[in-house]
Amino acid sequence: MPLVRGTEFVKAARKSGYAVGGFNTNNLEWTRAILAGAQEANAPILIQTSMGAAKYMGGYKVCYDLVRDTVESMNITVPVALHLDHGAYEDALECIEIGYNSVMFDGSHLPFAENLEKAKDVVAKAHAKGVSVECEVGTIGGEEDGIIGSGELADVNECIQMAATGLDYLACGIGNIHGVYPENWVGLDFGHLKEITDALGPDVPLVLHGGSGIPKEQVQKAISMGISKVNVNTECQQVFAAATRKYIEEGKDHDDKGFDPRKLLAPGTKAIEQLVVDRIEWFGSTNKA
Ligand code: 13P
Repeated sequence: MPLVRGTEFVKAARKSGYAVGGFNTNNLEWTRAILAGAQEANAPILIQTSMGAAKYMGGYKVCYDLVRDTVESMNITVPVALHLDHGAYEDALECIEIGYNSVMFDGSHLPFAENLEKAKDVVAKAHAKGVSVECEVGTIGGEEDGIIGSGELADVNECIQMAATGLDYLACGIGNIHGVYPENWVGLDFGHLKEITDALGPDVPLVLHGGSGIPKEQVQKAISMGISKVNVNTECQQVFAAATRKYIEEGKDHDDKGFDPRKLLAPGTKAIEQLVVDRIEWFGSTNKA
């Protein structure tokens, strides 16, 4: 199946009370693992590149070609959208031109008026090309690719104004944090999430960033309250690193050409695939393709 935009399947998730996974890719192995996991779970999925990951891989065109061609070569039949994660304004426009199906314009670090103006422009340009748009209000805490957020809760009035741009899904801080959650993390703020969903109504899908390390019950409660896309990056990195460490610590790289990258990277790749299947199950989107 060719790549599709995210609007329809994320809105379907919002309507039926489940969430779609947004998994970040970093290279060929990550891409194959995420796609294999989605296919195995029979779930729609967003495969996403941060600006840093795209730079690492050689640019957005490389990412687009890689994901599109891998979907084809693996005979992936579930709906897959290629999404830009936390894009600056210029990067969002570049991805729209290149063929991404979905872009996040993250202007959350800008003064709100500027964030809103740029969001309107990205929505207009993206929708003219059939591309879905995610915007953000209230920075997500933690650090991702050098972008550091202070972890504020999204202002409800700003959420209303941002949703009025006609965006397809909205990321809003509700106490979530990118990366590893600190010991003293107080959890998601469900009261705040309720305020946002009460204000926006049932038609605006919300995005939960920092999906790694949030307890299952909290993730599922947030989904039942209107979260329709959950982003996961760090946990894929952790399971890949752990499986690779185990392989090397067991000395397997010394056995029978075990240093061959096709063998060395296989356990980590398999671990990502399994994590994707497991998280899709948590999110309730198994068999929703
Ligand atoms: P984690 O790395 O914490 O899973 O967050 C991913 C994310 O929100 C990508 O935008």
